[in-house]
Amino acid sequence: MANHKTKLELTWIGKENRPKLEPRILVEDPAKSYHAPFRTGKADLFDNRLILGDNLLALKALEWEFAGKIKCIYIDPPYNTGSAFTHYDDGVEHSLWLSLIRDRLELLQRLLSKDGSIWISIDDNEAHYLKVLCDETFGRANFVATMIWEKRKSRENRRVFSFNHDYILVFAKDKASFEAVRNPVELSRDVLVRYKNPDNDPRGPWQSVSANAQAGHATPSQFYKLKLPSGKVIDPPKGRCWLYTKERMQEEITDGNVWFGPDGDSVPRIKKFLKNSEDAGLTPETIWPADEVGTNDEAKKGLIELLPDAPVFDNLKPESLLQRVVHIATNPGDFVLDSFAGSGTTGAVAHKMGRRWIMVELGEHCHTHIIPRLKKVIDGEDKGGITEAVGWKGGGGFRYYRLGPSLLQKDEFGNWIISKEYNPSMLAEAMCKMEGFTYAPSDTVYWQHGHSTETDFIYVTTQTLTREQLQKLSDEVGESRSLLVMCGAFRVKNLDEFPNLTVKKIPKAVLSRCEWGHDDYSLEIAALPLRSAISDQQSAIGGEEGNQPSAASSQRKPRTKAERRASAQQSSLFDFPAEEKKR
Ligand SMILES: C[S@@+](CC[C@H](N)C(=O)[O-])C[C@H]1O[C@@H](n2cnc3c(N)ncnc32)[C@H](O)[C@@H]1O
Repeated sequence: MANHKTKLELTWIGKENRPKLEPRILVEDPAKSYHAPFRTGKADLFDNRLILGDNLLALKALEWEFAGKIKCIYIDPPYNTGSAFTHYDDGVEHSLWLSLIRDRLELLQRLLSKDGSIWISIDDNEAHYLKVLCDETFGRANFVATMIWEKRKSRENRRVFSFNHDYILVFAKDKASFEAVRNPVELSRDVLVRYKNPDNDPRGPWQSVSANAQAGHATPSQFYKLKLPSGKVIDPPKGRCWLYTKERMQEEITDGNVWFGPDGDSVPRIKKFLKNSEDAGLTPETIWPADEVGTNDEAKKGLIELLPDAPVFDNLKPESLLQRVVHIATNPGDFVLDSFAGSGTTGAVAHKMGRRWIMVELGEHCHTHIIPRLKKVIDGEDKGGITEAVGWKGGGGFRYYRLGPSLLQKDEFGNWIISKEYNPSMLAEAMCKMEGFTYAPSDTVYWQHGHSTETDFIYVTTQTLTREQLQKLSDEVGESRSLLVMCGAFRVKNLDEFPNLTVKKIPKAVLSRCEWGHDDYSLEIAALPLRSAISDQQSAIGGEEGNQPSAASSQRKPRTKAERRASAQQSSLFDFPAEEKKR
């Protein structure tokens, strides 16, 4: 029988292919980690993380520790404007972009806390496809809103339309939970000036609103004569009723919540105190004007001032834009993650706002921009961006990590062996990740490298274990505990002799779990389908403004075919310097 419940979905070339990711370990390079020389207060945060590497592997590496813990994810992925490839083919590039983003979104979704939200910068090239993709990943019911950010104020006259805005798509992990915690935005100066205190009310400044309403839905109890402090008696204006019943109005007057003008002779108005509106704040609007949150150009100028010697990037996001995102979505101490870090705007803003942060960046600008920028933030030397607005003075720190190498490699005979780069503690950590154990090596018990519960442990060794060794382990573990033993080999026929042990050989036990030795999931040129095989029906994408922070001056375009091939093979879809426009 035909299935009438056809699923509504977006399809593209290669949608069904999903990488089997290796859960890599993260290796800290303490020489690149940085922290302030002293604490400025209890709220200082030192355990922020900067990770160099492909974000797909990095997100997978973070999954075990951070699943369900990230309150706010902001990403600013390359917009797929037709500038990422030397040989641009819309159908292929479009499909690749969708696959690359989908794989990352699925991991990001797992990292979000129940009340968490993801904010994605994007423009017209992919915004509408991305919305559908996010519907599939996060659930259509968890769509929150699309922000329109005015990214430039000047008119771009060389184009048919001057594209002055980007979008920020917002999805929640669970919309109801997000709505319960989302912060209102602060009152703007325009709103603040409306609050005054002509009667020196000890409760502070207030503004007044009408004490009467349209009579249409009124009850008879809202029509009565009201005596003003001056002695004058009035009715509600024609066609209107009083806002409250007579009794309630009297209570409000007694509580000093009604204003009759300086002489006590004016039509009454209800006092609304700033104190209360601050508590409630304002509902965030979906149009974010440049005057409130800044422009691309302001962000670029700010970074040039901060890092005058670093290559210049385009399409950076202003700190005030990120401040609004972080403010709405998080509270101090929450985790903020950006896996397309660029120049590090998200981390800089999160740091200044007292949030913990994790950033991932693949490009060399991790070293040329992010590290020097964050050092200046920590040293209190960054006077730009939101520093003044949030009163940032410096402090805290971050740890710098690289992705560990692939755990398995092939030897000269083509056999899989444990990579020689792995020392015992790296191996133990990697095995914990593979097997879903928390890595927590004991100082006193040699066989406790990690645990999954209070009574279930893991022991990792490259040794070949004898019967006597296993017997000794089994005796020490005892009846009330269990142990997973990951070893090079074992010399025992019947493992049933040790009911409290599960013994597995590495690498055999993990070999088929994932793809080994795969370091870059950004783009596989070799895997591209041939043009003739492409039946993609999607319409052409004619964008011109890339979203790669292109170090404009530093890269020469490949000229020969060989150069282009080599260059394309090294590059990721996301890190290629901006190319000439494609039409
Ligand atoms: C548009 S930029 C982000 C700019 C950032 N919002 C800012 O204000 O500085 C996108 C960044 O994502 C990085 N990127 C692209 N693909 C990546 C990947 N697979 N893994 C990690 N980073 C990646 C690029 O190198 C680039 O720096």
